[in-house]
Amino acid sequence: MNGNRFGRLFQVTTYGESHGDAMGVTVSGCPAGLELDEDDVQAELDRRKPGQSMITTSRGEPDAVSINSGVQDGYTTGTPIGMVIENKDARSGKYEPYVTAPRPSHGDFTYSAKFGTRNWGGGGRSSARETVNWVAAGAIAKKVLETRDVRVKAHVNQIGDIEAPEVSFEQMLENTEENPVRCADPDTAEEMRELIDEYQEQGDSIGGSIYFEAQGVPRGLGAPRFDAFPSRLGQAMMSIPATTAFEFGLGREAREWTGKDRNEDWEFSSDGDPVPEGNKHGGLQGGITTGEPIYGEITWHAPTSIPKKQKTVDWETGEEKEIQVVGRHDPVLPPRAVPVVEAMLNLTILDFMLLGGRINPDRLDDQPGEYDTDYHPSSPQNK
Ligand SMILES: Cc1cc2nc3c(=O)[nH]c(=O)nc-3n(C[C@H](O)[C@H](O)[C@H](O)COP(=O)(O)O)c2cc1C
Repeated sequence: MNGNRFGRLFQVTTYGESHGDAMGVTVSGCPAGLELDEDDVQAELDRRKPGQSMITTSRGEPDAVSINSGVQDGYTTGTPIGMVIENKDARSGKYEPYVTAPRPSHGDFTYSAKFGTRNWGGGGRSSARETVNWVAAGAIAKKVLETRDVRVKAHVNQIGDIEAPEVSFEQMLENTEENPVRCADPDTAEEMRELIDEYQEQGDSIGGSIYFEAQGVPRGLGAPRFDAFPSRLGQAMMSIPATTAFEFGLGREAREWTGKDRNEDWEFSSDGDPVPEGNKHGGLQGGITTGEPIYGEITWHAPTSIPKKQKTVDWETGEEKEIQVVGRHDPVLPPRAVPVVEAMLNLTILDFMLLGGRINPDRLDDQPGEYDTDYHPSSPQNK
């Protein structure tokens, strides 16, 4: 099974199944000289891990990461960074009833029909448990980008029919992590929470969306056609399980706008640089970054594992069956997906910055193209 690698210069390769021994990720292409320890990665994993509140699954995973290679004396050495996150609370037995009787709207049947077999415990490789690897890799990308003043943030802007008002980037930074829904508007967060509780009490679940924004991304990233920035970003976001839409700029609203209203005239900035007069294009024109903030939205369908009775068929016995997916599941996805979206955004931006020569792929402390004979802080010669 291919399709386990993301990124061209900042390469993330993952493995693991939901109820297997461990999840793991190798990050290849991280420049040497980045100060990094397990706490940096753990801080991001703690934001994604299950059991954070009543509106997340109660699966008891500490999601403790260990870094096994690529870091010496607290700095990256430029070699592949290996990270392992053990699965501590796997209970695959619960999934036995679904081995040949697929749960509605999961990947059970498509995986089995394609490969003739599948790891069936908790959704195996199709499980969103895989996103723990992405968040671990994204934590490293985030640290590299911080050295270039690139910042990303996401927050939950809609659950069901409850929509948050527009919020500033600063409000997102300040408020998002202050409530379990991860909505940067505290009043809307309360309303969303009530709605989620209602559906959870009914044994149902609900969909929603996330708004994301990236600031400080330099102009000129992305190349025409298949390497367009939005096409790579769209791939990153649509790889997150249960996503149904990726939008940037005006997104779906664009269908209602006239050309005259949407167009942004060119003007000169104070530096004499041509700049568009607004940012309805979401920081992306012709597939290339403009230097303005990149923003957009991602939509999730409601989680499919709900404790209501549902119909299925057993392809081995030929019987029709009724099943009830009981146990530990998220009643809504965007609150847990916020760190995943941020990770995919960081990974996409960093990969483009390395490709565009904005960061030296060998050494973080050098400018691209320079050759510096100073030893790296982690080299024994420098002690
Ligand atoms: C962070 C995260 C957590 C998820 N947790 C659950 C869950 O507890 N229960 C569930 O039914 N789906 C959950 N999902 C979604 C499933 O993984 C997804 O619906 C399933 O693998 C089928 O893939 P598809 O919806 O993309 O077709 C989660 C998704 C994300 C991003």
